[in-house]
Parts: sequence; C-alpha cells; structure tokens
Amino acid sequence: MTSPRSFRASLLLIVLAAAAVPRAVYGNSEGDALSALRRSLSDPDNVLQSWDPNLVNPCTWFHITCNRDGHVTRVDLGNQNLSGNLVPELGNLEHLQYLELYKNNIQGTIPPELGNLKSLISLDLYNNKLSGTIPPSLGKLKSLVFLRLNNNRLSGRIPRELSEIPTLKVVDFSNNSLCGPIPITGSFEHIPLESFEKNPRLEGPELMGLASYDTNCD
Ligand SMILES: *[C@@H]1O[C@H](CO)[C@@H](O)[C@H](O)[C@H]1NC(C)=O
Ligand SMILES: *[C@@H]1O[C@H](CO)[C@@H](O)[C@H](O)[C@H]1NC(C)=O
Repeated sequence: MTSPRSFRASLLLIVLAAAAVPRAVYGNSEGDALSALRRSLSDPDNVLQSWDPNLVNPCTWFHITCNRDGHVTRVDLGNQNLSGNLVPELGNLEHLQYLELYKNNIQGTIPPELGNLKSLISLDLYNNKLSGTIPPSLGKLKSLVFLRLNNNRLSGRIPRELSEIPTLKVVDFSNNSLCGPIPITGSFEHIPLESFEKNPRLEGPELMGLASYDTNCD
C-alpha cells in the first residue's frame, strides 16, 4: 500500500516534471531553426560559437538581431568563411527581414521553404556555390526589395513568379548558369540587363516573342 505521504511526494514530483516539460518540448522555434543551420554549416573561424541552443531565445547570439518582442529579424553572416548547406528550417523565421549569407562557400540548393519568410526584405546569397534551381516559392515574398543571387551556380529558368513581387527593386542573377527567357514584366521592367549577364544560356528580351527559346532549358 502507498502511504498518503509518499503519494503526496510522488504527486509533487509529477507536478514538477510537468512544469519542466514545456521548455524541453517546445523550446524556441526560431532558436531551433538557427541551431539547425549551425549544425549544417562548417564554421572554421568559430563565428557561430555564441549560438548556445540552451538559452531561452537566440537574441543574445552574435550575428543575430531581434525585435522588441524577441523575434529574429536579421541574420548577418556575410563574409564569414562558412561552408555547408542551407536548411529548410530557415523558413520558420517568420519575422526575418534580412538574410545575409553572401561571400561564403555555401553549397547545395536554395530551400523552397525560404518562400515562407513573409517579412523578408533582403535575400543576399551572392558569392557562394549554390546550385539547383531558383524556387518559384520565392514569389511569395511580398515584402522583398533586394534579391541578390549573383556569383553562384544556379541553373534552370528565372521563375516568372518573381516579377510579380511588387516591392522588388534590386535584383542580381549575374554569373550563374540560368537559362530561358529573362522576365521583363512587372517589377522586372526596370531591372538593368547587367543583372542577368554572365549566364550564357539566358535569352535577352530582344528575343521575346520569337520562336528561338531554348526549349531544353529545364
Ligand atoms: C577560411 O577557412 C579555412 C579553413 O577551412 C582557413 O584555412 C582560412 O584561413 C579561412 N579564411 C579566413 C579568411 O578566415
Ligand atoms: C562567378 O562566380 C564565381 C563563384 O562565386 C566566382 O568564383 C567567379 O569569380 C565569378 N566570375 C566573375 C566573372 O565574376
């Protein structure tokens, strides 16, 4: 038989254990997303050393900026000698405005989940070794102003969805392996042709409407 006293003690233990659960189970989803990125990157200069997953939120980590509500608004990791891959979890940073990962050696593909970053203003992935296609889901970024993917190894077409982002002002796709027609409608109307140069298989707007498209683009 359990004595009332040990029963009370075990009840107390259960209550204490239950109180400890939320932190362990739910954690901080933005911290978890950034920790997933850290695990996927190689960081020879230890610039991610302060990224301690045991803290309540990632707002005190170096290269991270949060707003007053404790949500991550900036990731500033340009020119930090990082290699490795991007991760789909980045799409969980729903308050992110600036994703700055330029001038590293990041390889692999651009996760389509980046299209979920509905607050994003700037996507700067230039000067890396990214390959694969540009996800059409990036067309969902309705706050995007800067889209710089130049100096990578991206292939395939420029998704038409991107020209439907009304806020887009600065675009650079130069020095990749993109193919097919250059969109010239919508927000692409005022993008200079230099932003598309050094993609030998891209077709200039002067060819639009002619039957000479590279049909083997995909
Ligand atoms: C970048 O990392 C490599 C090791 O992967 C190292 O040899 C090199 O010195 C680093 N470059 C800079 C600029 O820190
Ligand atoms: C093109 O991009 C690659 C990869 O970032 C870089 O190494 C190369 O210098 C660039 N070439 C030009 C002409 O800009």
